Order: sequence, then C-alpha cells, then structure tokens
Amino acid sequence: MKIISDIQELRDHLRGQNRASFVPTMGNLHEGHLSLMRLARQHGDPVVASIFVNRLQFGPNEDFDSYPRTMQADIDKLEKEGVYILFAPTERDLYPQPQEYRVDPPQQLGDILEGEFRPGFFKGVCTVVLKLFSCVQPKVAVFGKKDYQQLMIIRQMAKQFALPVEIIPGETIRAEDGLALSSRNGYLSTEERQEAPELQKILQEVRQRVIELKERNIKTLADIEQKAVAQLTGRGWQPDYIAIRQQSNLAPSTKESLEADEPLVILTAAKLGKTRLIDNLEI
Ligand code: PAF
Repeated sequence: MKIISDIQELRDHLRGQNRASFVPTMGNLHEGHLSLMRLARQHGDPVVASIFVNRLQFGPNEDFDSYPRTMQADIDKLEKEGVYILFAPTERDLYPQPQEYRVDPPQQLGDILEGEFRPGFFKGVCTVVLKLFSCVQPKVAVFGKKDYQQLMIIRQMAKQFALPVEIIPGETIRAEDGLALSSRNGYLSTEERQEAPELQKILQEVRQRVIELKERNIKTLADIEQKAVAQLTGRGWQPDYIAIRQQSNLAPSTKESLEADEPLVILTAAKLGKTRLIDNLEI
C-alpha cells in the first residue's frame, strides 16, 4: 500500500484511473470501516482510503484533541484489506490556507438532529468530503449507514453539485451484543460498555411499538419518542434525541406522509457518561 500525504503526489499516482473507489475515514479503524473497504472493492478499483481527523467538523468543546489516533495499527489493517493507496494528509497538506470557502448544507437537513446538537458539524463534514473528492476524484465513495444523516447529506451534496461520484451506503456493523461499532466506543468504561447495547435495544422496542400502533399519527409517534427518551434517562443516559423520521428526508411525519405510509427511520444520540453515541434503525 502506498501512503501519501501530498495532494499533487496523490493525483500523480491516480492519473488515468477512472474507476477508483474511495472510503474516507478519521482513522482508529474497526471492523465497520473494514467492511466499507470490502464494499468499496466490489464497486471499483483501485480502493483508496483516507485518514484525516477533520478539525472543521468538531465543536470547540468536542473531542478533536483526544480523538483516537492509531496510524500504525490502521495501516496494518488497510494493508490486509488490499487497499491500494492510503491518503493521510496533515492539516497543512489539506488546509494550506485557512479553509474560508465552506459547503453549508440546507438548514432543513443540516441543522436538525445531529446538526442541532453539533452546530457546524455538517458544514465541516461537507467541506472536507468535497475537498477529499476533489483530491481523489473517485468513481464511487462508500459511507456507513451508522451515520445516517451524514450519508443523506453527502448524497444530496453530490447530487446538487453534480459531482461525478456515486455514493454507496454500507450497513452498520455491530458487536455481538448489538452495539454499533464506533471509534468512540473506546471511551466507554467497563460498566458503560455493558450498558451501551441498551441504545439499540430501545430502538428495537420503539420499532416494535410503531409497527404495532393501532393508529399511527403525529401524537402517537411523539408519545413513543417521549417514552423512549424517559426510558434512556431512567437508565442513567443523557439523550439528545430519539426521533422517528421519514427515511426520505429525515423530516418529522406529516398527516400526508403517514397516510402515504412513507418509510420511517428512528434516529438517536445519547450520552453515556462522557461518551456520546449515535445509532439508528429503519422501520
Ligand atoms: O464519518 C467520518 O468518519 C467523517 O465524518 C468523514 C466522512 C471521514 C469526514 O471527516
């Protein structure tokens, strides 16, 4: 595997390749990331991965400094997966000047759910992803469904800017007890790690309640959300949200969308101790 930090060198290496498949990451790779590398291999060749902890998407009180950086272990894993190039720019390589041009997703998608609790997060994500796309110029790029809202926002960005890249979703990979794999799981204490799968269990209960609802309307869905929030709070979590939304646009259901039986998804973010976990479940 070739490890490259310089944008020009990356372009030189990829010249003439028009089927490259790309997986952007922030490193600290786990089985979830590796499953995305395998999916990327099915959709293009060569596979290019990136590791870059993107300062622009972290809020002032978030974990940018402490975000786990495990470069050598990540390199070993990517080599085993047959990744052709690892693009691992420094901040100076990717942002040689302050990044003043930014991509601001529309409020109705970028400022809800994660965007409400992490202001500026999706602006930082879209800006770096657009820049990484410009560096790698992939034919396809793979993003995990665990970051459901991120996947949707990047898909829309690619569509609205007519970027010549197809966005492929990768399924969430879970531990045996149901906890979605995440680089931030490493922050959990032993007791918190035992409690953490409850997040997915509660989403499954919410799904069951929605499926069994006699009358699905805005009020009955809100009642289910509130009950689930109370359940998590009662177990010692600090939930930011548990929201039952339309799969197509992440907006709350309307009378019309319920009548049309639009598919739903449940999304959640909640803190367990100091660790903020997110998860989702399609209905
Ligand atoms: O999902 C992530 O790891 C990051 O948000 C991404 C897409 C690599 C952008 O920094």
